[in-house]
Amino acid sequence: MIEAPHPGVPPSPGERLYRWLDARFGLAKVVEFVQHKEVPVGGHSMVWYYLGGTTLFFFTVQVASGVLLLMYYQPGEVTSYESIRYITTRVPFGWLIRSIHCWSAHLMILSLVTHMFSTLILKAYRKPRELTWLSGFALFGIALAFGFSGYLLPWNELAFFATAVGTDSVKGLPVIGQWLLEVMRGGPDVTINTLYRFFALHVVILPLVIVAVVSVHLLFIQVQGMAPGMAHQRADRPGLKFFPDFLLRDLLLWLVCLIVLAVLVYLLPYGPGIPGIEWELGKKANPLAPAYPGIKPEWYFLWIYQLLKEFPAHLWFLEGPQAALLVVTVLMGIWALVPWLDRRAGRNQPSPMFTDLAIAAIIFMAYLMLKAWDVGGLKAGSTGLPDSRATAWTCSLIILGLASSVALLRMLAYKQRWMFFSGAALLQVVLNGVFGLDYIVAGGIALLVAIAGLVVTLRKSSGEPLEAPR
Ligand code: HEM
Repeated sequence: MIEAPHPGVPPSPGERLYRWLDARFGLAKVVEFVQHKEVPVGGHSMVWYYLGGTTLFFFTVQVASGVLLLMYYQPGEVTSYESIRYITTRVPFGWLIRSIHCWSAHLMILSLVTHMFSTLILKAYRKPRELTWLSGFALFGIALAFGFSGYLLPWNELAFFATAVGTDSVKGLPVIGQWLLEVMRGGPDVTINTLYRFFALHVVILPLVIVAVVSVHLLFIQVQGMAPGMAHQRADRPGLKFFPDFLLRDLLLWLVCLIVLAVLVYLLPYGPGIPGIEWELGKKANPLAPAYPGIKPEWYFLWIYQLLKEFPAHLWFLEGPQAALLVVTVLMGIWALVPWLDRRAGRNQPSPMFTDLAIAAIIFMAYLMLKAWDVGGLKAGSTGLPDSRATAWTCSLIILGLASSVALLRMLAYKQRWMFFSGAALLQVVLNGVFGLDYIVAGGIALLVAIAGLVVTLRKSSGEPLEAPR
């Protein structure tokens, strides 16, 4: 509550404004709420509580820099590419704003993905926060759609062909594939109509939707507060006051994010030059020119891109891309439904299976990403195609080294023992990369191992809490 003014001392202009607003909107209730709001302490590291905030920070930067870009950007066959070139070469600090928008987009997705994995590992989705998770999952989808639609807007060669490849992959979806492709492209091919659609999506539809969903996400968090640690973790200590203690720490971290962004923008205005993290304008799109090899999507789509490549042209009764997209759909469905699948966490019991699910997902995606980058498969100075066997070998060794270190850390520091899912994901990596087994066959074997582990555990533990913590 705002302190009552001392008798005889006239209220300051701020106090008068507060009282004026309070009389009309009942501000005292909000002030009371903020004063009593606390963030749980003690269950686990506080670091994870700040990642939603950093995502929000980068989102704000996206909106501000996007509005500035929109003042000069003109969508159109002869204007899209030219206006971006004008922004970067003629408009004072135009290159800076474009670079901020591009860097911040990548950092926002990085922060969002880390936030998503951390809430999963901490089981912050458990009852009563199922809808917070679901709204977050929707935000994840919207953020990916922002990235995909924004990529085409400069209308340069790279964006054009990457969009052609990306939209082509939806053709694999059963029943609606061809229809969806034409809805996305505004016809059978990528043309300027596609750009108009992506522009509308990127600057009108998605911003309206994301603002609504972010508001719902934040409302849920305000109503329910942040999730405390699980009962089996360290005992909770008295909470940290949200205002001013947590908020000031939040602001400090935002300042650090701003500094990181400024340094990256200054040192690498067109990105680090890694496929999927670069925005050099290059040549204007020419729909009649042949597509050049090695076109890659943004880094967060690389695992899907590589998965599509791993599937054969036909698999049983399905086309290869259909089968790959089916796998992605099933995995995404499981991910969205985690709060309902993980009934142990809802009862505040340890659910090591779901911690391990997150680790398995990281192993699965990281291996595909490294392969998509052809790590270890390109000989220095060679312009030929990458050697896929050498790539698989190198990537598997990198993943094996990293995943074994993480497993060791989990065992020693956190006493975790349940590792069937991550073990299965690693088995696929080793069978494919080290022993040269086909990726799909290796995946089938790994899936059987994961299912066997799941069945044995469920039988053994039916009703009883699992032994391993977390
Ligand atoms: C634009 C994207 C997003 C923004 C701006 C955002 C923002 C936030 C903020 C500010 C918090 C409170 C502080 C914190 O726990 O970090 C939060 C909590 C939470 N978010 Fe997000 N988030 C986003 C995406 C996601 C995604 C993709 C997921 C998961 C699928 C997710 C799931 C959650 C959950 C479960 C909580 C509750 C955490 C707890 O109670 O401890 N969010 N989010």
